[in-house]
Amino acid sequence: MTAADPIRDRTAPEAEEKAPSAVVPGAPAPEPPSLDEPTQPREPAPPKADQRPPEAVSPTGKPTGAPEDSRSQAGAYLTTAQGLRLPDTDHSLKAGDRGPTLLQDHHLREKITHFDHERIPERVVHARGTGAHGVFRSYGTATSVTKAGFLAKDVTTPVFVRFSTVLGSRGSADTVRDTRGFATKFYTDEGTFDLVGNNIPVFFIQDAIKFPDVIHAGKPHPDREIPQAQSAHDSFWDFVSLHTEATHHTFWNMSDRGIPRSYRTMEGFGVHTFRLTDAAGVSSLVKFHWKPKLGVHSLVWEEAQILAGTDPDFHRRDLADAIEAGAFPQWELGLQVMPDDPEQVYEGIDLLDPTKIVPEELVPVQPVGLMTLNANPVNFFAETEQVAFHLGHVVPGIDPTNDPLLQGRLFSYLDTQLTRLGGPNFAQLPINRPHAPVNDMHRDGFHQTAVHAGVAPYRPNSLDAGVPFPAGPEVDGYVEVAEPVQGAKARTAPASFDDHFSQARMFYLSLSEVERKHLADAFTFELGKCYEQAIKLRMLHVLANVDADLTATVAEGLGLPAPSATLSVPDVEPSPALSQIGRPWPTDGRVIGIIADETSNLAEVTELQNTIVAAGMQALVIAPHGGTLASGSSEPVVVQRTLLTTRSTEFDAIVVAGSPKPEPKMYRLLEEAFRHAKVIGGFGGAEDALSAVGFPTDAPGVVIEQEATRMLEQVVTLMGEHRVWQRFPVHVG
Ligand code: HEM
Repeated sequence: MTAADPIRDRTAPEAEEKAPSAVVPGAPAPEPPSLDEPTQPREPAPPKADQRPPEAVSPTGKPTGAPEDSRSQAGAYLTTAQGLRLPDTDHSLKAGDRGPTLLQDHHLREKITHFDHERIPERVVHARGTGAHGVFRSYGTATSVTKAGFLAKDVTTPVFVRFSTVLGSRGSADTVRDTRGFATKFYTDEGTFDLVGNNIPVFFIQDAIKFPDVIHAGKPHPDREIPQAQSAHDSFWDFVSLHTEATHHTFWNMSDRGIPRSYRTMEGFGVHTFRLTDAAGVSSLVKFHWKPKLGVHSLVWEEAQILAGTDPDFHRRDLADAIEAGAFPQWELGLQVMPDDPEQVYEGIDLLDPTKIVPEELVPVQPVGLMTLNANPVNFFAETEQVAFHLGHVVPGIDPTNDPLLQGRLFSYLDTQLTRLGGPNFAQLPINRPHAPVNDMHRDGFHQTAVHAGVAPYRPNSLDAGVPFPAGPEVDGYVEVAEPVQGAKARTAPASFDDHFSQARMFYLSLSEVERKHLADAFTFELGKCYEQAIKLRMLHVLANVDADLTATVAEGLGLPAPSATLSVPDVEPSPALSQIGRPWPTDGRVIGIIADETSNLAEVTELQNTIVAAGMQALVIAPHGGTLASGSSEPVVVQRTLLTTRSTEFDAIVVAGSPKPEPKMYRLLEEAFRHAKVIGGFGGAEDALSAVGFPTDAPGVVIEQEATRMLEQVVTLMGEHRVWQRFPVHVG
């Protein structure tokens, strides 16, 4: 046994014999399969080491103490759903060899019937997503503003997070330009708290009644049902150009925030203002933020487009692989705290308007706890698909405000889940079960799995000794903040909701030059995909109220005249916190591709892989063929990717080991990575290989060294900046 090669390729038997110190994540089964079909009966294997099911609590929230696998299938032998052992599942029961099939075949009917009903409706929005388990540890810094128990000092709370896109259907690509959902379920002792946010801090609409409109506009056209999972089409731009309160959100979507590098490198926002109340009953207005420890990073547009074809599961894979590799993603939960005064306006910003942010320079984000995602689900359907988030899942110390978007959401989630999850008992699904005792007097209904005792599910009662009793605040009962209400009933919005442009301008002015260029390109691309000139022109009129240079650039790209502003937008200060660029970040979980062949120094390749893996990143060897690379006395090196099976988009940096034989696919790999401003490294004579394919070895972000370790140090430092920003041509206006 040797520990020289840390990378286990489960398709290569010779590699399996070595003791791996790390495994390339993604292999499907907990143990490598045998070549022949197994025939020796045995219990099912446990889940993979990185996987964890929901905690084994009862349907009514009691700890059961049952083992983690208590809900998975058991036993060595094939059975029916009733546990009857079966000798055959390959042939239906027939009258003679040649049929007909008999109605008597209970197994055929049970198997096919269950299959026929495997699908449930996908979510009406956010259908495409992925989830992970984790834990939230509170710092205790929030106790000054809230009595919520899970935010008290050093309390740890299990969480389940689901990230998603908004527009696409369940099978759509991960890397499309869209807003991302960032929904967190905290299983607290006081009941479940859901923070159902996005990676963008504002929303398209100010009132929930407009939600069907914006979603109908963004979804595929109803006649041809195209395009899938994107906003680059006429109906989306028709709506947002007419409905200018969408402008701020649209700017975020067209910025690099619309194409995250990874779910791990996204911020999260509660969007609305919430009301927090401390133990003494003093309330504050608060905005929630998730700050990723890895920083906020994005793809570039061409990368996102290539990935949508070559690896539509890119974000899903990235999250699961990082967790499996032990690079657990982390976010700090932060609060912006504003006084709860009757106006609910802070420094001129209406806190009930979800199209506005409060700049961090004005109100700093105070960290209150750390979330670590540390386990993958065991079963996508049972967990990620069936999880049901809802803004109405609150705990004492956290209240909604009157933000009209939030108010409508309080209705929508429970309502939609009744259909999606087939009845009123979906809170009993394992992933949705609270970790606090449930005594709700709800009874019966489809899929009831609780076995309720007692005869008096009503209040008041004496037959069940009065149980359950009302819980006042002294026993952690949830009491709504007694906010005074006034005014006449009307379908109106306050005048303060009328400013649709100043914060879009603030966002634009806060971006670096290269980010502005990306945003201008995105507007030009998306509007360029529209057929109707009137819609493009109308949108240019909207842009004109935000920034003249941007309008001119987009108009030029569209071949249309640039209109002038029709409104004078108040002066705004940029908010530097909104730019993603300009500081180094950790590189945990990043992926480095190493191009090698038999002529490379394989001992050095192995050592380089070891060093990269030890630094918390992944190192994948790319070679002209699969299997292993072997030469001389060196240990063979397992090949994880071939020049045929990979694209540059899989990697954050590419390194050339020695002077592998040049070929067109290698050139494409390097050229593409270079174009996407990724770091390129080379060692052990790599300069020759790179020059042979005409590669600019003296360009910024290209590190050539004789020695691998020296090269890697520089490569990792550069990767901390995410991209080699100097390589982007910048020109706006
Ligand atoms: C600030 C604005 C909003 C944010 C941040 C937001 C966020 C989210 C997220 C993250 C999800 C995915 C939940 C999951 O992973 O299962 C979701 C789903 C959903 N949202 Fe929203 N949303 C917003 C506005 C709205 C509005 C205004 C409505 C309706 C009035 C709405 C209705 C829905 C529905 C029906 C689902 C599907 C839920 C399910 O099937 O379980 N959302 N939203």
